[in-house]
Amino acid sequence: MQKPVTHIAIYGDAGRGNAEQFELGAIMAKRHAVKPFRLALSTGDNQYDSTTPDLMRKIFEEPFVDLINAGVPFFQTPGNHDMDEGRIEEQLHYSRRINALSEGKGGWVLPAPHYVIRDKHVKIIVLNVTAPGSDFPDQREALEFAEAELAEDSADWKILCFHYHLWSTGLRGDHEEMKAVFLPLLERYQVDFVFAGHEHHAEVFAPWRGTHFAIVGNGSEIREHVMPSDQECLFRTNEIGFAELTLDEAQACLVLIDRHGQEIWKQVKQRLKPLASVGEASQQI
Ligand SMILES: [Fe+2]
Repeated sequence: MQKPVTHIAIYGDAGRGNAEQFELGAIMAKRHAVKPFRLALSTGDNQYDSTTPDLMRKIFEEPFVDLINAGVPFFQTPGNHDMDEGRIEEQLHYSRRINALSEGKGGWVLPAPHYVIRDKHVKIIVLNVTAPGSDFPDQREALEFAEAELAEDSADWKILCFHYHLWSTGLRGDHEEMKAVFLPLLERYQVDFVFAGHEHHAEVFAPWRGTHFAIVGNGSEIREHVMPSDQECLFRTNEIGFAELTLDEAQACLVLIDRHGQEIWKQVKQRLKPLASVGEASQQI
């Protein structure tokens, strides 16, 4: 086993404060106790309810209490439900108020609708591909943000996270507009992984021209619809759970975790070239 570069938890569509989300929080904490997460990354729909004074306690602070207390930052991706009724403004404000990164105390992180997480050899680009009152808004801003970040430096591991899926064997099937907008970008910059939610299950697809794509939307409610997809589905689960991504000097390992905390799927991507040297100035999480 090579020296780990980072180890992260990916989860999505979790913001209900229901029993299933508490179950998710418990299995994430159980896995963290064995191998700590550097960070958690949500694929969106972090908030389904209208904002109330103690909403964040219900949909975030209580379900994820153990991980927050352990100092894990939870990076949030805006989903379509997060854009309703001015919720995104409340979430941005909550992030500023919690200030989880600068104090190293863990918790909710949403610095802007589009932002970057840079951790030594890894660059995660979080995009908002949703908007109030539109199923598929103009993606120029998200695309320009991603392109500028991908062109700016050559991170060893390049990851995109946004809410709408590309392919899916779930309720909505393949998202043709998302594919048309983002597939050329993935190929041009050789993006390693793309994570999305919106669909309420988890699945891993065969790599597309070198990019690995997974849906992780099984955080609080399951849907079992089955639709055809243009891309080969390698594995799908209709259970509550999440994903773990471990990046090291030689490979990336994506694992799906079930509601018992067990590994139910594992996919490995080998690095084609060694990690580049990284200067001291690189931003740390
Ligand atoms: Fe959604």
